[in-house]
Amino acid sequence: MAARAPPPGGTVADGGENISVVVRLRPRSRAEVEGKDGKVVLALPREAEVKVKPGTPAEKRFTFDKVFDDAPQAALFDAVVAPVVDQAVAGYSCTVFAYGQTGTGKTYTMEGAKREDGSLMPDAESAGIVTRAVRRIFAALAAGRAEWIVKISFLEIYNERLDDLLAAVRRGWRLGGGGGA
Ligand SMILES: Nc1ncnc2c1ncn2[C@@H]1O[C@H](COP(=O)(O)OP(=O)(O)O)[C@@H](O)[C@H]1O
Ligand SMILES: [Mg+2]
Repeated sequence: MAARAPPPGGTVADGGENISVVVRLRPRSRAEVEGKDGKVVLALPREAEVKVKPGTPAEKRFTFDKVFDDAPQAALFDAVVAPVVDQAVAGYSCTVFAYGQTGTGKTYTMEGAKREDGSLMPDAESAGIVTRAVRRIFAALAAGRAEWIVKISFLEIYNERLDDLLAAVRRGWRLGGGGGA
């Protein structure tokens, strides 16, 4: 077996931590800015902390591996996803997924900014994780000498429905089966 360097962060077997939990706060919408609630979540990127209900008696702090406040797509990708893509290209099984309430910025983060008609903005700055990861994978493969076969699907689960974000037609496969609600 070929010797491979362990992935950054170590392995489960050697007690290292291979799961990163990262928070990205999106900018507030106009309605949120104009609403009466003020800032209900405050990011402290340097401390990798988030304050919920800051400045109130109910204030709580939560610590994560990284916290991004209004960060450009490139900054998030370079810090969080690029190392994972590199590990995947090196042969490790890797997963990146976006989790959160509706409207918190998952689609923007994964796909990028969109036009009114739903099509993706072609400019590089607003491109999301999917575009950047695909670009990085092919750049890495093109730089090597080996022959490659790449199979790609980008899966989204929404309301128990599974979609491949790269498919021309979204099928909305129902998860679970067995007649559940
Ligand atoms: N980082 C961001 N910068 C600017 N706008 C954002 C950002 N994240 C989300 N948005 C905007 O906020 C709205 C909700 O984001 P969206 O990605 O659709 O949320 P979700 O997929 O989690 O339901 C969209 O109009 C999106 O363009
Ligand atoms: Mg979405």
